[in-house]
Amino acid sequence: MIDNIVDSIVSSKKYKGIYPKTVERIVRETSRRCVSKDVEKNSKNLLHQIWGSYYTHYPDFEKLTDNLKKNLQDSNDIKETILPILKIHSSTAERIPISIDFYKKIFEITGSPSSIVDIACGLNPLMFPWMSLASDCKYLSYDIDIFEVEFLNDIFSILGQNNRFKSFTGDIFIDSFPYCDIVFMLKLLPLLYLQDKGEVVNILSNLECNFIIISFPTRSLSGKNVGMESNYSHMIESIINTQKWKISRLVFRSELVYVIKK
Ligand SMILES: C[S@@+](CC[C@H](N)C(=O)[O-])C[C@H]1O[C@@H](n2cnc3c(N)ncnc32)[C@H](O)[C@@H]1O
Repeated sequence: MIDNIVDSIVSSKKYKGIYPKTVERIVRETSRRCVSKDVEKNSKNLLHQIWGSYYTHYPDFEKLTDNLKKNLQDSNDIKETILPILKIHSSTAERIPISIDFYKKIFEITGSPSSIVDIACGLNPLMFPWMSLASDCKYLSYDIDIFEVEFLNDIFSILGQNNRFKSFTGDIFIDSFPYCDIVFMLKLLPLLYLQDKGEVVNILSNLECNFIIISFPTRSLSGKNVGMESNYSHMIESIINTQKWKISRLVFRSELVYVIKK
């Protein structure tokens, strides 16, 4: 039964771009929690919440790539050419107004990184022109969205950045990640709670790095402030208080950030 449901989901129009290992993991876990007739529907609902809800319409990545190439012919301003892409994903769209301060304040605490692993990256790696990274900083990014990962690699190549920026399909519950200075886990923790709350402390403990940057949105996707800052503060503090990590907290207009020194 599980294999049939996984096949049906990965061959569906909407979910064909999700990492099949993630679909299989979610179907297995869902099948433990509900009656068989609801497994496919409930698995799709969860996949929508963790992956599908951040784009108003799933992007036509080929068209975006072509547009970027055209815009690069008209402008040398790399930020200007990337901005329209960042705006299509709610997480990066919300970060644009705070972008310069956002990375600057984080790196003031961590120091300038020589390697970054960005887990559940969305389009965040394309914010690199706002990050002021050292020219030899390596940046590896991972997400469960196969087409988004291909798109990121295409854009890195077009921008001549593919030596140091690389994107991969990866699921934080399944895959392991190389050692690095900084792990970005931006706006991810609430989604991990939806998937497997009990695993979150282990995941954070097992990450091999100097710093983990965990962030939370402070407004809902509809733009409302519904006590999210205080709820998410409780969520993360209940985890980190069990560990001997040094924590710094940064509050931006649209995002709450915890810098964890391991
Ligand atoms: C709210 S978006 C955040 C994107 C990006 N981190 C940012 O803040 O700009 C959540 C991202 O997490 C990814 N995701 C969800 N569950 C994941 C998992 N188990 N492993 C890896 N990525 C995951 C989704 O595909 C989506 O791109």
